[in-house]
Amino acid sequence: MAGRPLHPPVWWSATFEFDRSEELVEAARAATRRFETGTPAEPIYTRWDNPTVRAVEEAVAALENGEDALAFASGMAAISTTLLAFLRQGDHVLALSTLYGGTVELLTDVLPRWGIRVTFADPDELTPDLIRETRPQVVYVESPTNPTLRVLPLRRIAEAAHQVGALAVIDNTFATPVLQQPLMFGFDLVVHSATKALGGHHDVMGGFVVGLRHWLRPIWDMRKLLGGVMDPMVAFMVHRGLKTLALRVFHQCETALQVARFLADHPRVRQVFYPGLPSHPDHTVARAQMRAFGTMVSFAYDGDMAATQALIDRLSVFHRAASLGGVDSLVTQPVTTSHLHVDDTIRQRLGIGPNLVRLSIGIEPAETLIADLRQALEAP
Ligand SMILES: Cc1ncc(COP(=O)(O)O)c(C=O)c1O
Repeated sequence: MAGRPLHPPVWWSATFEFDRSEELVEAARAATRRFETGTPAEPIYTRWDNPTVRAVEEAVAALENGEDALAFASGMAAISTTLLAFLRQGDHVLALSTLYGGTVELLTDVLPRWGIRVTFADPDELTPDLIRETRPQVVYVESPTNPTLRVLPLRRIAEAAHQVGALAVIDNTFATPVLQQPLMFGFDLVVHSATKALGGHHDVMGGFVVGLRHWLRPIWDMRKLLGGVMDPMVAFMVHRGLKTLALRVFHQCETALQVARFLADHPRVRQVFYPGLPSHPDHTVARAQMRAFGTMVSFAYDGDMAATQALIDRLSVFHRAASLGGVDSLVTQPVTTSHLHVDDTIRQRLGIGPNLVRLSIGIEPAETLIADLRQALEAP
């Protein structure tokens, strides 16, 4: 065929046939050999590999500057499969305390059942010194963090992890590879919820892990067994989303900065959390490490729990929906959503009160979003 599809089509087949059984055996050998050689392998069975899924994996690997990537049915499938591929009984994970709630549950409720010890550290405590003192097998972080958008010094964390032989893993969902490429700071593996900005349209669920092929091999083996591979149709849709990722993310960041500045000047707002504001504690780190400051903005409203819920209910452009990073702007109250099950003392320590509002900025015009926030904040 002289003309090839410009966008990878959906290869919707669970299995792939061969003319001779010898070819099938050779394809199975090549499927694992590709982690040593990097040479493409023939597809055999979609839980192993699928051409549409491989195409989006290669695209995400290129975006993150990684050697290769693996695609999953969700962000949680990517995270759990990655951790289970490396951890053994008796191992220790040092994790950031402000991780996504599902990851915290996995680390707190599931991994200890198999004798894996997990300790958590707040953004200010997760220092190179702590890593060197505790000597974990895995250091697991996110940056910027949810919902107060703290930014961690990634190069220093990765260096300290390597000094003690730990694997450095980061969830880069909030930043996206458009704003930061943690592999360039020395991280070993980057995980993503593609449900967010990579897909970008709030319509599909997916996840990725990116890194050296050497690290991806055991994760591929584990993905085959746990079965949480990305569906080819989802791969097609995420791949389409990737084509506008940079356009969307930079536009969303610009709007987020305008929204953050508007909120910072508003008398009904007590505090704004956005790394792009010079008042943010990690503004300097964010400036050095990120290409723009992200699509998420949080703020503390001048009101109690009920008043904050009423404020959120007055918004008409922002959707009251859990998720982030896509084209539609979303609003949540972290104490009733992402941090509902987090202990109150921990929430207080992390600055997550009942008056905290989290915004995910979409692609609507900044004036539209600011007008919506203004009418909600200034309603009698
Ligand atoms: C930072 C982060 N990581 C991982 C996940 C989990 O992703 P998924 O919902 O695609 O499983 C989420 C979901 O909200 C998230 O916000």
